This record gives sequence, structure tokens and C-alpha cells, in this order.
Amino acid sequence: MPVSVFDLDLPTLDLLDVPFDQAQSVMRDMASEHWIVRNPFGFTVLRYDDVAAVLRDKRWHNAAGALPQMMGITDPEFLARDRVSILSAEGEMHTRLRRLVAPAFSPRAADRLRPFMREVINSLVDPVAALGRADIVSDICEPYPIPIICELLGAPKSDWQLFSRLAEDVLRIFNGNVLEELPIIMKAQDELDAYTRELIAERRSKPADDLITALIAAEEAGDKLDTEELVMMVSAVIVGGTDTTRNQLGCSVALFAEHPDQWAMLVDRPELASRAVDETMRYFGAVRGTGRFASEEIEYRGIVFPAGTMLMPSLAVANRDDNVFADSGTFDITREPASQPHLTLGSGIHYCLGASLAKAELQEALPILAKRMPNLRIDGDITWKPSNVGIFGPQHLPVTFTPTN
Ligand code: HEM
Repeated sequence: MPVSVFDLDLPTLDLLDVPFDQAQSVMRDMASEHWIVRNPFGFTVLRYDDVAAVLRDKRWHNAAGALPQMMGITDPEFLARDRVSILSAEGEMHTRLRRLVAPAFSPRAADRLRPFMREVINSLVDPVAALGRADIVSDICEPYPIPIICELLGAPKSDWQLFSRLAEDVLRIFNGNVLEELPIIMKAQDELDAYTRELIAERRSKPADDLITALIAAEEAGDKLDTEELVMMVSAVIVGGTDTTRNQLGCSVALFAEHPDQWAMLVDRPELASRAVDETMRYFGAVRGTGRFASEEIEYRGIVFPAGTMLMPSLAVANRDDNVFADSGTFDITREPASQPHLTLGSGIHYCLGASLAKAELQEALPILAKRMPNLRIDGDITWKPSNVGIFGPQHLPVTFTPTN
């Protein structure tokens, strides 16, 4: 007779005030005993096979739509504008959106931006290379993704500052004091939507070689995205593709700073860039977990999950599962690819749409940083973002290195 998950005798994971490192080791320890534990919102899934199974089961719906409520947002105006985004869409609606937009996010589309990515990262290193010291977060990670998103979308260079300001304000949603900043966030979202509508109108009459044009042209069996869906997609690219990339770059460099031999190896063997990116994302991913709720009653492993049950699949703990990644606690950029991928980019139907772009951005940035910032060392203390916000990474990452030109 299957038993309800609520009747199981499970330990509770409540890590709200526990420092990040400690929280990770508590979770990893728990994973050796339990595949699922309680948390204040529902349950946390800890092992690779179970995290992957939940993410690949379409009956578990994305909890992104419930995030504003979970953050304590009650502003009726904000909640009322809750439009369906590709991240929160499910079923037919998601399948249709994904089918229409996926070709525009192909590896080839990302590859076309690689020379530009190198240009951007070099321009950010230029002012600090000869100094031999930098704050990796404010000097490199923060400014890196916005010009790339602008170039991807096809926003004219003259608008980059405006675009960057609006994106920054919209991204305050991840800052931790969202309640205070809600008016700024909503105003920026309105301005960004208006700006995007103009850009779409322009591209409809004058197509260019950019993502907006590709999304306008995207068509399958006579079906096309309408203007509101195009505006939503641009917003999803900004929200999904900016803070994630910055924080992942920060996590990756912080990790390398603790492993100088691996940093040096990346200089000698830049062909390892692709493996290095996957390994840093596996070992220290910026997106630590995600959220799902049961859209109907679900039975899994002989356990009943009533409709509405909230699950947090822990991508980070799953990425350290020894059953999938041999010697998972060792950071090794020469690691042979495992039989299954790391989960920092998700899995299943919501697998990161920008995965090729994200990987390309990191694959271009890391070898250039390694070459131009040799003998990288942490200079003082790293301060970290609060670990209870969705995307984790360093807030300040002061480093010294051997000056270069
Ligand atoms: C290192 C950087 C990145 C990381 C770690 C990351 C991580 C993720 C994860 C874990 C998901 C799935 C969430 C879930 O299933 O609940 C996701 C989805 C998504 N990501 Fe990324 N992402 C990154 C970069 C990007 C970039 C550069 C873009 C845009 C160009 C992007 C756009 C999206 C979108 C639109 C979705 C929703 C896809 C869907 O629901 O079908 N991401 N990302």
C-alpha cells in the first residue's frame, strides 16, 4: 500500500541561517542516508537519479510561477501582471513555445557570438591586467553578460547603456530585498517591454541578423509567436541569461583560485576549456536547486505525493553523487565526461534554453582570464551572496595575480 510522503518519518532540512559551506556538507551527508528530506516548504530531493527523474516527469510542474508568493510579494499590481513565461509554462503551451524558439538558441547561433565574447572579456581585463589585482565580480563578472545579450538580441550599440540599466533594475528581483524594490522593478519591466516592442516593430519592417529577427521569423506549420510572446521571450532571456552567467563565472573563478594547478593547466591546455566549464558547473554551480509542484497526485518509489506537494530538487547535491561522478568531491578539469551530464543547467523539458550560449560565454572567458591573470590568488576574503536566493555566487572576489599586459 503506497504511503503518503507526508506520513514518512523524514529528517527536516532547515538551513535558513546556516552558512553556505556548512549547509552543503549537511545536505551531502543527508544524501548518503536519504534520497528525500523535509524542508520548510515541502521536500528536498538529494540524489542524482531522483532529481533527474523529477525534472523529466512532466507531472511535476515548474514552481517558478509561485516564486513571487514565496518571496512574500503581495502587491496586487505585480501579481496581476503575472504573465506566462516559458519557464512557468507547462503542457501544450510550453511544448509549442519551446518548439518555436529552440532553433534560435542552437549551438551554432551561440558560436557566432564567440569572437564578440572574446572582445568583451578582453576589454574588461585590459584596465586591470597590468595592476595585478582586481575584484573579479565588479570588474569582470557583473559587466560581462549584458553586451552579449544586447548583441544577441540586436539592440543597437547606442542603446546599450539604457538596456543595461533596465536589465539591472529588472534583475533586482534576485537581490534579496525585493519587497522594497518592487516599484523600481515594475517600472523597469514596463520600460523594457516598451523598448522591446519598438525593437520588434523595427525588425518586422527591417529584418537583421539577430535573435529578435530569428524569433519573429520562427514558424512551424504556419504557427508563429505573437508580439506579446516575443516580448516575454526577450524578458526570459534577460532574466534567465544575465545573473546566472555572472554568478557562474564568479563561482568558477573562485573555485579555480582555490586550485592554482588547474588554473595553470587551463593556460597550458586551452583545449580543456569545454571540460573545465562542465567541471566547474558540476562542482560549484551557481543555480543550486529549483522548485516543482505536483500538478496531480503522483506516485514515485512507492510513495504518494498529493497534488500541490512542493519539491526542491537539489541540483548541487545531485552533482556530487558518487554513483554518477566517480570521486565526485575532486575538482578535476581533465575529468572524462560522465555517462550523464551535470544538472546545473537543469534537465527535462525546462532544460536551460540558453545552455549553448552560457557554455560558450564561460568557455571563452575562462581561458582568457587564466592567461591574462596568471598565479591568481584570493586577496582577503570572498563575500558571498545570501544562499537563500535562487542564484548563488560571490558578491566580492578580490584577487591578486602576476601582472600582464
Ligand atoms: C551559467 C549560466 C546559466 C545557468 C546555470 C542556467 C541554469 C538554468 C536552469 C537550471 C534552468 C532550468 C530551471 C528549472 O528547470 O527549474 C534554466 C532554464 C532556462 N534558462 Fe538558463 N542558465 C544559464 C544561462 C542562461 C542563458 C545565457 C539564457 C538565455 C540566453 C538562459 C535562459 C533560460 C531560459 C529561457 C530557461 C527556461 C527554459 C524553459 O523553461 O523551457 N539561461 N537555466
